[in-house]
Amino acid sequence: MANPLFATKSLALLLEEMAGENRLRRVLGPVQLTSLGIGAIIGAGIFVATGAAAHNVAGPALMLSYVVAGITCVFAALCYAEFASMVPVAGSAYTYAYATLGELFAWIIGWDLVLEYAVGSATVANGWSSFFQTLLPRLGINLPEAISRAPIAYDASLGRFVATDGVINLPAVIIVAIVTAVLVKGIQESASFNATMVGVKVLAVLFVILVGSFFINPENWRPFAPYGHGGLTLFGYTVWGQTVGGTPVGTLAGAAIIFFAYIGFDSVSTHAEEAKNPNRDVPIGIVASLIVCTVLYIAVVAVLTGMVKYDQIDTGAGVSVAFRTVGLPWAEAIIATAGVAGITSVLLVMMLSAPRVFLAMARDGMVPPSFFGSVHPKFRTPWKTTILIGSFVAVGAGLLPIEALLEMTNIGTLFAFAVVCAAVLIMRRINPNAERSFRCPWVPVVPILGIASCLLLMFSLPAANWWRLVVWLVIGLCIYFGYSRHNSVLRKREQALSVGGGR
Ligand code: ALA
Repeated sequence: MANPLFATKSLALLLEEMAGENRLRRVLGPVQLTSLGIGAIIGAGIFVATGAAAHNVAGPALMLSYVVAGITCVFAALCYAEFASMVPVAGSAYTYAYATLGELFAWIIGWDLVLEYAVGSATVANGWSSFFQTLLPRLGINLPEAISRAPIAYDASLGRFVATDGVINLPAVIIVAIVTAVLVKGIQESASFNATMVGVKVLAVLFVILVGSFFINPENWRPFAPYGHGGLTLFGYTVWGQTVGGTPVGTLAGAAIIFFAYIGFDSVSTHAEEAKNPNRDVPIGIVASLIVCTVLYIAVVAVLTGMVKYDQIDTGAGVSVAFRTVGLPWAEAIIATAGVAGITSVLLVMMLSAPRVFLAMARDGMVPPSFFGSVHPKFRTPWKTTILIGSFVAVGAGLLPIEALLEMTNIGTLFAFAVVCAAVLIMRRINPNAERSFRCPWVPVVPILGIASCLLLMFSLPAANWWRLVVWLVIGLCIYFGYSRHNSVLRKREQALSVGGGR
């Protein structure tokens, strides 16, 4: 028998499991899937992180950063789409890795995805708080410093974290608690709620582009790349471009930061189980939502950096505050309100995703099914995992600054994307004749470019993120070797087959 660490779940087994009972209803078409994608994509990244990235990392050249990050995502999206059309089951990259790279890699990716969704949720909650706090003074409320921010913050001029007067970011904790409660109870109206939120967000973004374009001063685009175009480092050694206090800056470094704004398109693949025609519609949903957002994002950055000189852009809520700066406070209020609503919907989707990955892992015996696979008897939701993840997210959102959370999310997600690209290459080799209703074009060029561009962005993040990722993965490996290896459903099945003479 081959090394069980690399045992793969066969495509036939995945499809067989998919046909079993206990599956989700197939109700989503291409438009709903695209809308779900846009709902998961547009959020704290464009509304919140863009301001700080333009100010501290890339200047007006952030427009190019969005192009670089967008292209990286297109490569990964094409690979995701091929997999989603082959294995239309929930679980996303985790399931893909199980089918190709084997159990150990599947575990690593599943564990990594939980990090992506949980830390990503903390990032979004943090961004939500920044936007929300720009609205509070209009209501006559001024939060004390101690409960309005995390105890540490990133100082761009020093390029490191410094202590603040804050104790906890209370608005971020409260929104996480509310979303957790909603998810435990279950969202009945999720499709129509999502459609409304997508409408609100897209209108807010179009509003920024259309109204803001009247206030562009092309002088603000000069210098275009004040931090240069580089930002590539290798574990702390600068390979290309500049660093500030060890933190890479420049167009490439900007791409590594605002990559966050694109995260979410991959979540369309987690809805494959609910798609009416997953083989055709999931690839359409992934690629279409990505294209729409790329175009909108580049336009927003062009407008924002044209309205306000990059070094005067607000780092907390740049997109809305820009309108106050040019004398349109009413526009700021509209954008901030729509932004808060839109970011809330991203938080809902992200916090929904981590329990789903755990659910897929619990079905395979990778994590204890009694806890992670447990469904609430009345609400029919994975309530225990939702509360566990909610607590983790609340602690992160309340105590850590957005920069640290965002970078950590990005490195985890880029890693998962690189593995999905690799998995497409491997699957073409080991299963060349499997039915693929969507084929990633120009294989192996696209997956190889996908892996290379993900690695490039990973190396353009501050080096500390690599160590944080390694620590997280080592914790994961301890759990794998301590628990999952002995409880894997696939392994037990193979053992039973070999005892029964089936192999
Ligand atoms: N792309 C999502 C956002 O920007 C995660 O909030």
